[in-house]
Amino acid sequence: MLKWRELYEQCINCNKCGLGDSRINMVFGDGNPKADLVFIGEAPGADEDRIGLPFVGKAGKLLTKALESLDLYRKKDYYICNICKCRPKNNRTPYEDEEKACLPYLRNQVALIKPKIIVCLGATAMGCILGKDWRITRDRGKWVERKGFYITATFHPSAILRDENKKPLFWQDLKNIRRKYEEIFEIKNIDT
Ligand code: URA
Repeated sequence: MLKWRELYEQCINCNKCGLGDSRINMVFGDGNPKADLVFIGEAPGADEDRIGLPFVGKAGKLLTKALESLDLYRKKDYYICNICKCRPKNNRTPYEDEEKACLPYLRNQVALIKPKIIVCLGATAMGCILGKDWRITRDRGKWVERKGFYITATFHPSAILRDENKKPLFWQDLKNIRRKYEEIFEIKNIDT
């Protein structure tokens, strides 16, 4: 397992898949690297590619605001990153070989962070982390415990921008995530 600096260096010099050829910035991740909570999206969009940070575009702002209204702040309470660290042109879904090339970096990040909760944002992240047989509409909001992590999935915030009807379910999922986070905090406080 690489330490943060080495891992970052590898990612910034990565050309394991074609996405490296067209990127402006490699989008590593953002937030508290010691957080108990990690959100994982699909891949950077145009804004993220330009700025070099994840979830800073319209969908990212929606998510950030929703989490802040639950008293969860990026710099303090969670870390956020993506399955792929470089932008697929025209925001297409990453190809499987691109996901596979990038996943070891994400695994290394998660191993360094050691979060208690992992939240997959959308079908791509969910498919990569929970399995290709998981379906976002059917399985969002479910919790599984794997390798010491509590893992769940909810809609990608861009899906909420496209379809307002998904908003109540998205909100319900975020509130459940908040509740799980509190539960874990209580357990931690008792232990220490
Ligand atoms: N969508 C994602 O999946 N990730 C980002 O960083 C931005 C938009």
